[in-house]
Amino acid sequence: MKHLLSVDDLTSSDINSIFQLAHDVEELILAKSPKRGNDFVVASFFAEPSTRTRFSFERAIHWLGGKIITAADASASSSISKGESLKDTFRTLGQYADMIVFRHKDENWPDIADKYSRVPVINAGSGGKEHPTQALLDLYTIQKELGDVNGKSIMFCGDLMFGRTVHSLIKLLAKYDCKIFLCPATVIEGYTTTYYLDLPGYYAAEKAISQETAKKLLPEMDVVYMTRIQKERFSSDGCVIESLKLDKSGIDTMKSKSAILHPLPRNEEIAEEIDDDPRASYHERQVRNGLYIRIALMEYLLELR
Ligand code: NCD
Repeated sequence: MKHLLSVDDLTSSDINSIFQLAHDVEELILAKSPKRGNDFVVASFFAEPSTRTRFSFERAIHWLGGKIITAADASASSSISKGESLKDTFRTLGQYADMIVFRHKDENWPDIADKYSRVPVINAGSGGKEHPTQALLDLYTIQKELGDVNGKSIMFCGDLMFGRTVHSLIKLLAKYDCKIFLCPATVIEGYTTTYYLDLPGYYAAEKAISQETAKKLLPEMDVVYMTRIQKERFSSDGCVIESLKLDKSGIDTMKSKSAILHPLPRNEEIAEEIDDDPRASYHERQVRNGLYIRIALMEYLLELR
């Protein structure tokens, strides 16, 4: 494996090795072991907003002993704003860095990176299409919270059309034996016909369920994966959107051993009143696992240690 551009790049053996490394990293960090003394440089290039992905990558690089070169807001401050192509951007970054962590609104940039980058590239978000490192940390979180992902029922709610974390995680879960339920948000006003924010056609193997049905199915779910509406990715001005909202009355019907995940940022889809419920993984454990997974992934790709 040279790059991580899509979850399609990951074999089961890659996933197992990365999870084993992440487990070891977590133990070292919890034991307050000093950072690893490596010597490498990563270009951290985020041309879309980010809090968790960017900060966890940069924290991970610090822990490993690497150095970061970056732009504060790459869409405005890099030469992309002067019309430079992504092809030329990758060619340039590869002259300065040993690895590139890249996020951009163009869904197809990973193909360009694959062709033109001479150093490994990690996809930190490609438009509304993929977010493979989030999928890895989500899968890792499910395994840690519930012991195993096989045999589990997992429900995805919210913007399944433009939610890249959903796309990558669903593809990754296809390697395991679990049952997927999809509860897409619906735009009930603002379009001429009701617009379902459902999985793009090429994923539509699973059938969508209504929000009413989803509520009734909550007691059977092992994992509920909530997402916000990606308003920046479609003309949503003046739209009225209905999306399942998870609150205390909903989670009171769920199993005591289940997990609520959200890639964050959260808008209105999760009521703050459930944040402290032991099944809510999103603010602490899921975010923290992102750090361990990203350290492990960089060790794996750069063959560090
Ligand atoms: C997500 C993203 O950027 O795709 N956040 C993240 O990376 N943790 C989800 C989102 O923006 O809604």
